[in-house]
Amino acid sequence: MKSNTEKFGKAPHQPSLWTRADALKVHADDPTTTQPLVSADFPVLSNEVFIWDTMPLRDLDGNITSVDGWSVIFTLTADRHPNDPQYIDENGNYDITRDWNDRHGRAKMYYWFSRTGKDWKLGGRVMAEGVSPTAREWAGTPILLNEQGDVDLYYTAVTPGATIVKVRGRVVTTEHGVSMVGFEKVKPLFEADGKMYQTEAQNPFWGFRDPWPFRDPNDGKLYMLFEGNVAGERGSHKVGKAEIGDVPPGYEDVGNSRFQTACVGIAVARDEDGDDWEMLPPLLTAVGVNDQTERPHFVFQDGKYYLFTISHTFTYADGVTGPDGVYGFVADSLFGPYVPLNGSGLVLGNPSSQPFQTYSHCVMPNGLVTSFIDSVPTDESGTQIRIGGTEAPTVEIKIKGQQTFVVAEYDYGYIPPMLDVTLE
Ligand code: FRU
Repeated sequence: MKSNTEKFGKAPHQPSLWTRADALKVHADDPTTTQPLVSADFPVLSNEVFIWDTMPLRDLDGNITSVDGWSVIFTLTADRHPNDPQYIDENGNYDITRDWNDRHGRAKMYYWFSRTGKDWKLGGRVMAEGVSPTAREWAGTPILLNEQGDVDLYYTAVTPGATIVKVRGRVVTTEHGVSMVGFEKVKPLFEADGKMYQTEAQNPFWGFRDPWPFRDPNDGKLYMLFEGNVAGERGSHKVGKAEIGDVPPGYEDVGNSRFQTACVGIAVARDEDGDDWEMLPPLLTAVGVNDQTERPHFVFQDGKYYLFTISHTFTYADGVTGPDGVYGFVADSLFGPYVPLNGSGLVLGNPSSQPFQTYSHCVMPNGLVTSFIDSVPTDESGTQIRIGGTEAPTVEIKIKGQQTFVVAEYDYGYIPPMLDVTLE
């Protein structure tokens, strides 16, 4: 088997660093990087299920694709339990917050379809019960492969462990709707190796998930982004000069920030079909800054690589903070160096008055950003909340060089196609 060095003809790239100095530039409530307030009277997609991470069907170049005029999205989905005694509180009321917070343990892939790029109709589960090898079906990416309608769904099989997997099926359309057929054989692709990417044995709070395959517009090869943590025993990481960056006097103390070790991982396919992968060193690390860089994805624009990833307030390290939302970095070539957009990395954060209103943003190549509603306060003090589990209003950002600007807002869950494929 060829090593990286043989294949790429040079030593593998150095990861780019998101530094503590960069993160000190993050400011909530800058209107150019803040998601408009989501009203508490939002509509819900379904009273039967919660949905969160939304994965529009796309091609390997990143284009959001409809088939025979039908838009298709995949969502992480879990049943709502309004009548389950387990979720009825001592006053006899449905404890929707607890039900919502428990959802990750029973996440399943569902799909939805639409003629309008909104008003989604529930298609159903992608894989039948028992097909996926683990309890949880966590985020990934559905890829339309060809005009026969073949779809590769890359996703994360979680508990036990966390394995990047894929399952092949087919999208079939009629005048009345869309169905997904096949999706019967799940193929494990890879797991964290403990050398570049942290394993569960090194850290029980490790993250290894959210595959996002793509074809590099420059070299034409098949790659995959994913979320990881930097390898090494929990607590053993060093937050040195490079990770701290150029901070002002008084900002040298890093506290316990060695426990925050997020990275954006990358792998390259050894074959055309994406059945055989080799992990490469991370593209970007956030050691000493943040513990989660989730659902990494690209927009290829103006010859540049715009790398986006979602992160949380609660995963920031001591001494740095920022809103829940999507962060971004830009480079002139795939392997970097990446610099934070807007100086800080923040692209679209929640307003501080509604810190959990949305999450799991996905920036599409047309500048539209989809996300889901988590919870929205219903009173002034913010103690009463309404749980979402549904699509948030779509926001449009303009990407210009190393800056981004919020420029428009659209309907809930508006995910229009960028191209339509007529199936054979
Ligand atoms: C983002 C996320 C993903 C993960 C999923 C689990 O919202 O944390 O990283 O795949 O949700 O529910």
